[in-house]
Amino acid sequence: MKALDEPPSTFKSKGAGSHFLNLCCSVLSYQFHFLQFFYFPKTMKSIILLVVAASTGLAALQSGDNDELAKSISRGRALYQTNCISCHMPEGEGMEAVYPPLAGSDFVQEDSTDKVIRVVKFGVQGEIVVNGQVYNGMMPELGLDSVQVADVINFIKNSWGNESEIKYTTPAMVVKVTK
Ligand code: HEC
Repeated sequence: MKALDEPPSTFKSKGAGSHFLNLCCSVLSYQFHFLQFFYFPKTMKSIILLVVAASTGLAALQSGDNDELAKSISRGRALYQTNCISCHMPEGEGMEAVYPPLAGSDFVQEDSTDKVIRVVKFGVQGEIVVNGQVYNGMMPELGLDSVQVADVINFIKNSWGNESEIKYTTPAMVVKVTK
């Protein structure tokens, strides 16, 4: 291809070939600008819109979840006062060798299954190990409904410095758990 070995058209002063090349270049670059002007911003606009919409949607979803969790925790606090405090104590500290603690409890914090839901929903009897200590008592079934069970669990899992992988227990999760 001879044309490729020749110097770029801009450095050439004469010749019909160079005029033709110049014309081609300007048409191409005009088309490119044209495309940039009309199509590129359009795609960019839709991409930006998409990203913005997705992130606001996500943020809304998250803040919605956080709102729900905050409300659930505050209902759970009240439920704790009436249903749990007599045994597990005001700060969730429990009672040495009789009532296991909820504050700092590995049973509560490390639960990635439905153990905590099962205990709060149905009560529990027999041997249970909390922070390496064996308890062998009985917690009665408290007769809370699914929303209340979720609320009180959200309270104990997010209080007294407790941290769990599952921060938000929903009533639907409670409904699914059977004895
Ligand atoms: C009458 C006393 C009593 C009441 C009221 C009570 N519990 Fe318990 N709870 C116990 C006992 C005793 C155990 C240990 C049972 C065993 O040894 O098998 C226990 C165990 C637990 C456990 C698992 C072990 C741990 O400490 O992490 C959780 C979670 C729990 N209770 C939450 C609650 C919640 C939430 C409420 C209120 C909705 C509540 N309990 C009300 C006596 C009680």
